[in-house]
Amino acid sequence: MKVQGADVKDMKLAAAGQDLIDWAAREMPVLNVIRLRFAKEQPLKGHRLSACLHVTSETANLMLTLQAGGADLSLCASNPLSTNDAVAAALASTHGVKTFAIRGEDNDTYYQHIEAALDHHPAMTMDDGADLVSVLHKTREAQVGEVVGGTEETTTGVIRLRAMADRGVLRYPIIAVNEADTKHMFDNRYGTGQSTIDGIVRATNVLLAGKKFVIAGYGWVGRGLASRAKGHGADVIVTEVDSVKALEAVMDGFRVMKMDEAARSGDIFVTVTGDVNVLDRAHFAAMKDGAILANSGHFNSEINLKALDDMATSVRQVRPNVQEYRLQDGRRLHVLAEGRLINLAAAEGHPAAVMDMSFANQALCAEYIAKHAGKLERRVYDVPDEIDAEVARLKLASMGVAIDTLTEEQKRYLTSWEEGT
Ligand SMILES: NC(=O)c1ccc[n+]([C@@H]2O[C@H](COP(=O)([O-])OP(=O)(O)OC[C@H]3O[C@@H](n4cnc5c(N)ncnc54)[C@H](O)[C@@H]3O)[C@@H](O)[C@H]2O)c1
Repeated sequence: MKVQGADVKDMKLAAAGQDLIDWAAREMPVLNVIRLRFAKEQPLKGHRLSACLHVTSETANLMLTLQAGGADLSLCASNPLSTNDAVAAALASTHGVKTFAIRGEDNDTYYQHIEAALDHHPAMTMDDGADLVSVLHKTREAQVGEVVGGTEETTTGVIRLRAMADRGVLRYPIIAVNEADTKHMFDNRYGTGQSTIDGIVRATNVLLAGKKFVIAGYGWVGRGLASRAKGHGADVIVTEVDSVKALEAVMDGFRVMKMDEAARSGDIFVTVTGDVNVLDRAHFAAMKDGAILANSGHFNSEINLKALDDMATSVRQVRPNVQEYRLQDGRRLHVLAEGRLINLAAAEGHPAAVMDMSFANQALCAEYIAKHAGKLERRVYDVPDEIDAEVARLKLASMGVAIDTLTEEQKRYLTSWEEGT
């Protein structure tokens, strides 16, 4: 099937979608400041941009900011379960964004939608997980040369893109938005931390207090999730493969152990590693009856569902977003949201207030790429420090928080070496 124009669930949902977009905008003051400036300065005028992002109300606000800056947009989903159909309808029908995204789309449709977004012939890409860039490089050899640069939103995408750059196959520069301090310190930690709990609770309605809550991975997401689960009274256990991160978890007051051991006692398991088969056959064999398994890492690769399916005598849906796998000995394991990002599948993704900063970085990086078109190398760049600082400055201003500035004397002192005790 070749998809043209737009492919969303139902255009009649547009008015409801607009309400959601407006609601999110109230918590996105930084993006709003950028949008007003973009409308005046038109930094993206004449640029075709294709984005592959979670199609949420926050993403819609980013699209409207890019559009205000003059960009001609297409958008597809970066996950089959994260689309808000009403928002997609509003973008497609009210705002003229070529939108290709339907919540619950199957794998084939997911990739058809990526192809449709690429049929837009972008000069810039905006990705979350690097599927768009990967398809473009694998199947559209002739078209890649049209792209002057791109951005990437998440840890997993940055890892994939660095692998492409290391192997010499990346054909255009990418700015790793995830690497901005104003992105991962807030989005990954506070955004995913809160929304992952939200997704688990909405899907199951379990009480977290007193539960053994096992978190695989103590990176930015794992740290945020651990502190929030602790705040709910859960007994948090961390598993890691990195000794420094594991040590940090111990000193933050969490028990750290191997997953083989944690599997025996955990009530709720959440993977946030960006890795593969972190919960595997041997762990399923050891888990307690009723254990809950969720993933908030980017891909649905962290829970080995194929192995679990092999081990199960029956599988049934017991609630929306909850699949019960019954094992031979009668134990039941509950997998949430098919092992896909629980915070987007069962809740609404990150609160707008953190996406405000992530997407402010996206918008300013798109402007940076347009300004530096043709001058950047084919590699993965960090977000320029001045963009990171500008996003933090605008966010603080929007919160009414003032900070001190260095005096001339302090500047001199901090850049000198002569003065000691
Ligand atoms: N759900 C969301 O909305 C959302 C938001 C941001 C990031 N993410 C995704 O979450 C994942 C983690 O992101 P991050 O920023 O915390 O990354 P990170 O690199 O900071 O942390 C990942 C951690 O997992 C550990 N790890 C790797 N393999 C492991 C294994 N087998 N067992 C235990 N630990 C293991 C690593 O040592 C590392 O400390 C990525 O896939 C990222 O794309 C999701």
